[in-house]
Amino acid sequence: MRIDIITVLPELLESPFQHSILKRAQTKGLVEIHLHPLRDYSTNKHRTVDDYSYGGGAGMVMCIEPIAKCIDKLKSERTYDEIIYMSPDGEMLDQKMSNQLSTLKNIIILCGHYKGVDERVREHLVTREISIGNYVLSGGELAAAVVCDSIIRLLPGVLNDETSALFDSFQDGMIAPPAYTRPADFNGWKVPDVLLSGNEKEIDKWRHEKALERTKQRRPDLL
Ligand code: ADE
Repeated sequence: MRIDIITVLPELLESPFQHSILKRAQTKGLVEIHLHPLRDYSTNKHRTVDDYSYGGGAGMVMCIEPIAKCIDKLKSERTYDEIIYMSPDGEMLDQKMSNQLSTLKNIIILCGHYKGVDERVREHLVTREISIGNYVLSGGELAAAVVCDSIIRLLPGVLNDETSALFDSFQDGMIAPPAYTRPADFNGWKVPDVLLSGNEKEIDKWRHEKALERTKQRRPDLL
């Protein structure tokens, strides 16, 4: 899979992809992530990419020209399955959407800033708009990192058997059961006996029950 991210703040996106699972996924050649600094596509010598809003009002709006220039260049090099704009009023990200996005080959993610992008970008250039929650971030970069992380961990070969994404919360419509590790007794706080029993069938049954109980308690909307 290849992900091209268009941003005015590439520095903000460097670190999330340089560690742990996301780094390993790139090293293994399972995903390619390319950051495109939008200012490189500015149409003026000051390298600006935003301007005042027509009709007045506070806040700058990101211009269509540099965005179109960058998207056109990328589209001339390969075909894209989706051109995604990160926006708080987009479709809400959930595990089902991450699963679907993880099956795609090439995607572009456009990060917004200021008062958002010129509406014509949304009307004509992007194919999908995604929100990561009902709150407003300062820009789309952190939201883009969340989307990428949730997709990349699902790509075949990224996680090993023990950490398989199949066991993630939400993957089977439930949240994950409680997990414990050593010591079995910490100041009298004990790990449930069944997990120490070695009886796989009983352990599976206990985990399923706990997952169901937790989902009923915390996220009944999932059931
Ligand atoms: N940009 C700003 N806020 C956002 C959000 N909640 N989701 C996606 N992109 C955003």
